[in-house]
Amino acid sequence: MRARVLSGMRPTGALHLGHYHGALKNWVRLQHEYDSFFFVADWHALTTHYQDRAVIERNVYDMVVDWIAAGLDPDLCTLFIQSRLPEHAELFTLLAMGTPLGWLERVPTYKDQTEQLGERDLATYGFLGYPLLQAADILIYKAAYVPVGEDQDSHVELTREVARRFNNLYGRKVLTEPQALHTEVSRLPGLDGRKMSKSYGNAIEMREEPAQVEAKIRRMPTDPQRVHRSDPGDPARCPVWQFHQVYSDAATRQWASHGCTSAAIGCLDCKQPVIDAILREQQPWRERAETYLSNPKQVHWIVEMGTERARTVARQTMRDVRDVMGLAY
Ligand code: TRP
Ligand code: SF4
Repeated sequence: MRARVLSGMRPTGALHLGHYHGALKNWVRLQHEYDSFFFVADWHALTTHYQDRAVIERNVYDMVVDWIAAGLDPDLCTLFIQSRLPEHAELFTLLAMGTPLGWLERVPTYKDQTEQLGERDLATYGFLGYPLLQAADILIYKAAYVPVGEDQDSHVELTREVARRFNNLYGRKVLTEPQALHTEVSRLPGLDGRKMSKSYGNAIEMREEPAQVEAKIRRMPTDPQRVHRSDPGDPARCPVWQFHQVYSDAATRQWASHGCTSAAIGCLDCKQPVIDAILREQQPWRERAETYLSNPKQVHWIVEMGTERARTVARQTMRDVRDVMGLAY
């Protein structure tokens, strides 16, 4: 039997190239090697966006379309929606009973995000508890590996501690300690060099129109010291260079870097291969998405199948959990 991998994504917006290169591309690869479970973390989105129900509703299926368009194959992996499986909430509640408050207060993302998302009121019970909800997501499927970015490491660590404590408290090894899975992912920054994020206005969506993509790259800032075409530049100061790292082969990178430092090429010349590569990458996504967008029932059906597959596993774990906790009356 193949080891199980589990990961989730919040449905907070249409997916952009940062999501693709940072996570989704890796998922597409993992589905061939592992028993892969990928889910829409809609409850997680509510821990921060509890006032925006319309946004979440719209984005759930949009995100699944992006996943399939990118190459997730419903015949190879299990795709589902967290809130369709109340078992996650039950495990969360039962784990909450014995989880020390300090474990949650100590999670680094708690302090960081409370400060970052300043305009939202995050002094909520749900927000403090969300890493434990994540632990329940992972433990309910007895996942061996969790592919996440380093920013989520502390959540996987908490999950391990929670599993260990549970097994100790109730004297049976019911829950499995997962491991974070860090595979090589390429980091694509936003158009301005900061992290790509819709809220920074520096993102290119996976299914963005070709003309828009081209216009955005052409407007992209470059080395600020390259004011005139004749001024030599330094790729290290330029976000376009980061895009070349992800999108260009060695020969093109060599051409760009040499052309930049010697002022042999202009910035628009330098951007052209990046534009071409992004459009080439997006073409099959657009075509596949088209099929699913014009046939929403098919997407619903895929999610339905995945949800039922996930439910079989979740139910079994909950039977064991209730059993060891003395709730099997
Ligand atoms: N917390 C994750 C994020 O914000 C999403 C997530 C929820 C998740 N549950 C998970 C990731 C379980 C991996 C496993 O990106
Ligand atoms: Fe950036 Fe390329 Fe212009 Fe150099 S030539 S500043 S790497 S866009």
